[in-house]
Amino acid sequence: MSENITSAAAAEAKPPRKKRIFSAIQPSGEMTIGNYLGAIRNFSAMQDEFECIYATANLHTLTVRQDPKVFKANTEQLYAMLLACGVDRSKCLLFHQSLVPAHAELSWILSTYTQFGELSRMTQFKDKSARHADNINAGLFTYPVLMVADILLYQADMVPIGADQKQHLELTRDVAERFNGIYGNVFTVPDPYIPPIAARVMSLADPTKKMSKSDDNTRSFVLMTDQPSTIMKKFRSAVTDCEAVVCRGPEKAGINNLMDIYAAVTGKTDDQIVAEFEGKGYGDFKTAVGEAVVAMIEPIQQEYNALLKDRKYLNQCAMEDAEKAAAIAERTMQKVYKKIGLPRR
Ligand code: TYM
Repeated sequence: MSENITSAAAAEAKPPRKKRIFSAIQPSGEMTIGNYLGAIRNFSAMQDEFECIYATANLHTLTVRQDPKVFKANTEQLYAMLLACGVDRSKCLLFHQSLVPAHAELSWILSTYTQFGELSRMTQFKDKSARHADNINAGLFTYPVLMVADILLYQADMVPIGADQKQHLELTRDVAERFNGIYGNVFTVPDPYIPPIAARVMSLADPTKKMSKSDDNTRSFVLMTDQPSTIMKKFRSAVTDCEAVVCRGPEKAGINNLMDIYAAVTGKTDDQIVAEFEGKGYGDFKTAVGEAVVAMIEPIQQEYNALLKDRKYLNQCAMEDAEKAAAIAERTMQKVYKKIGLPRR
């Protein structure tokens, strides 16, 4: 009996399960500082407090035609970049989405719980189909359902993302609630985590548009792999306004964006930034933003280049973590199949 009491007490003393985080990023090219400041730096910031699961979303990237060799290299490079950005495999899982087939399986099932009208309203679908008018494939349309599956598969409580993914997160919540409404509590309904600053880093060439690696104008984005001299050039040529006063304003999209980047990188407040550049021109400000970004990126690049020397090791790491992720995913799949009446081995 005393043994029972001891084990009951031990069970009671067990700390509650850590909240779970899931997020992913596409290997559709090099990572930008928008990806980093909006989402990726939160991947490592969250790993002490939460149980974190991260993936490269390589199945999503197939919605745009890829050269197989370049695609494979981009996926490996992104894996190395995520590690270089501080994702620590001793604290979280990091793998490629395609290594866990349950993502695609659950995506099919959830597509039958998602309405055509809901997917038609997704702004990213509208943007991307306008940009790739020659290849508006069905995958581009159902892309958000795969994202819903990624998140629900791991019963994630929270999803660190930039502001552009908010609508997809809302869809995730709607689909989870709909499914739970029919079958009981199967899925955790996740919350987005969108950072208070730099949630939407804008193009340096057209600050009314989001910074994106797929922009044709290479001056519009800064890559995590850009050389310091290139970064400085890109910031010096950033589009601003003719007022020449460093402060925020409704007609100052370019300066607002540079202030966001500078604040996110240095941790300075708006008031501190305004005071620092009082009486100085935009040239000084742009140089300071460029230098701060270079200082942030340089150690990451060193680590990234070192990691890329051993691609075999990187692939092995991805495999190991995928196996662990697959075991977590399988628990959800068992539950889902049982609830809807599908046999599963
Ligand atoms: P992706 O690969 O376009 O971007 C990865 C992350 O970077 C954020 N981001 C930005 N944040 C601030 N400013 C910007 N200019 C900027 N550009 C991109 C994105 O919001 C994102 O958080 N569909 C997703 C990948 C994905 C995913 C998931 C994300 C697949 N499954 C499950 C979360 C959970 C995408 O294409 O992100």
